[in-house]
Amino acid sequence: MARRRKLNDRAARHDTAYRRAKQENFAARAIYKLEEIDKRFRVIKPRASVLDLGCWPGSWMQYAATRVGPEGHVFGIDLRPVELALPGWVAHEVADVNDWSPEGAIAAAGRRFDVVLSDMAPQTTGDRASDQWRSEALLLRALELARAALRPGGHFVGKVFQAGRFPELLGELRASFQEAKAYQAKHTRAGSSEQYLIGRGLRINIAAEQARDRASAHDRADESD
Ligand SMILES: C[S@@+](CC[C@H](N)C(=O)[O-])C[C@H]1O[C@@H](n2cnc3c(N)ncnc32)[C@H](O)[C@@H]1O
Repeated sequence: MARRRKLNDRAARHDTAYRRAKQENFAARAIYKLEEIDKRFRVIKPRASVLDLGCWPGSWMQYAATRVGPEGHVFGIDLRPVELALPGWVAHEVADVNDWSPEGAIAAAGRRFDVVLSDMAPQTTGDRASDQWRSEALLLRALELARAALRPGGHFVGKVFQAGRFPELLGELRASFQEAKAYQAKHTRAGSSEQYLIGRGLRINIAAEQARDRASAHDRADESD
């Protein structure tokens, strides 16, 4: 009985969030999950540079744009084009994270990112195990891109449908960030295995390792010219 009430509470909260997002002109109710995470873990600061992986329809970019303000920068990528009107300090492009690297976006912004967000989710097939496996693969790719794109000390928020590789994902997060936590947002659908992995403070040695790898890849490319 108590469990049923808890599920119903979640469903009601979910519907309220959907209606509220519509009323407040946000692209999706997902905005309230990011707001909740940001209030709790303080990841997005004024003037920050934010990379948003899986940004369509755009509610996380709306939130991040307001938090960073006109002296900040938000860059989103998704398989689908974003069709929202967004402020001038927001840019986005259509790309698959598996074929995309952040060098161009870093060069355009003139600095490395302070925050990498990933709300990516695979198109669901109805086969829970396969959906979870693909969600874990997206989270691993998001972590890889975060290590390549963040400044030392930068923060990461990434969504995953929790399954068998969850301990491995948490281990990767711990190895890369000074603080690593798993968090289930209050606005998560009832019965969902969705979790957010929060990494605060990209470790300096990880950032240095990435910079060394990039420099040697650059040298190899020069030699082959
Ligand atoms: C839940 S939606 C993101 C909602 C977004 N945070 C918002 O607030 O509007 C998940 C997105 O992940 C994107 N996605 C999934 N796989 C991707 C990939 N390989 N590369 C880029 N985006 C991907 C999907 O196209 C989808 O738009």
